[in-house]
Amino acid sequence: MTTPTITLNNGVEIPAIGLGVFQTPPQETADAVGAAIATGYRHVDTAAAYGNEREVGEAIRRSGIDRSEMFIETKVWISDYGYEQTLHAFDKSAGKLGVEQIDLLILHQPLPTAFDRTINAYRALEKLLDDGRVRAIGVSNFMTEHLQRLLEATSIVPAVNQIELHPYFTQPEVQAADAEHRILTQAWSPIGGITSYRGDANAGSTFDDETITAIGAGYGKTAAQVMLRWHLQRGRSVIPKSTKPARIAENFDVFDFNLTDAQLDALDALDKGVRGGPEPGAITLEAFGREIPEA
Ligand SMILES: NC(=O)c1ccc[n+]([C@@H]2O[C@H](COP(=O)([O-])OP(=O)(O)OC[C@H]3O[C@@H](n4cnc5c(N)ncnc54)[C@H](OP(=O)(O)O)[C@@H]3O)[C@@H](O)[C@H]2O)c1
Repeated sequence: MTTPTITLNNGVEIPAIGLGVFQTPPQETADAVGAAIATGYRHVDTAAAYGNEREVGEAIRRSGIDRSEMFIETKVWISDYGYEQTLHAFDKSAGKLGVEQIDLLILHQPLPTAFDRTINAYRALEKLLDDGRVRAIGVSNFMTEHLQRLLEATSIVPAVNQIELHPYFTQPEVQAADAEHRILTQAWSPIGGITSYRGDANAGSTFDDETITAIGAGYGKTAAQVMLRWHLQRGRSVIPKSTKPARIAENFDVFDFNLTDAQLDALDALDKGVRGGPEPGAITLEAFGREIPEA
């Protein structure tokens, strides 16, 4: 099937579902991406910091799918922020992916204590967009204050803000700021994977949530499928991760049912306001910096 797309604020179309590959070991990445492409996925979300861009590129070439049919998204790590450094980060990522052009290149995190570097990194993304090296640019983990500072200092509104977003953590204020500026909110950990692989065992995981599983039972769908459907109906892009072919297929099988407004509201109401990932305001080069190898 053809993946439904969402039109970004610059007119570029992004497939609504992509495969995430955070924590996918390089040696398993090509198989996971291959399984996803065989299922019908046409979008992969990777990052320089994931260490598997090379294998993502290999899988796409091996699939035989025309490059123009695939949407490749990757992220610049904070250690490569700064104008010249970020231009070079593009070369490193494009080189590993084995592509001339990247569909969506985003800044992985804000660097609140060195925001001038963040701004200069974003200016490099603007230059890459201008030169046609990337088709769209964006950010990740930008809170409202980071978006505000970025919008004041730069000229191109990001196409995407990729943030932690699952039923237990919905960040309504960031979603509202994104919507106000026509920035697509893209959900990372969309099925709440972080609530099980990093969560507090007592807080519970989204996969076992009674409200979510009960909604799914009515449609013969799993909790993961209900969560993905909720994002899509709320207009968000999603990038669920799995290395298992059966789950990769399950996570794509979400186009044959519709949640009611009451069910969407019930899912919204599960928000606990507790972040699973690192606090974006606390990201520093000292704590999180690490060298990204050359291509
Ligand atoms: N920008 C950022 O800072 C940031 C941070 C985190 C993630 N991301 C992106 O978002 C993507 C997804 O986020 P995520 O990996 O944190 O979480 P996720 O996609 O919500 O969940 C992934 C976890 O759930 C398991 N899983 C997948 N499908 C399942 C299913 N149908 N039923 C039960 N379990 C299932 C996976 O295990 P198996 O692999 O064993 O199936 C994995 O442990 C990442 O891969 C990455 O691309 C971005």
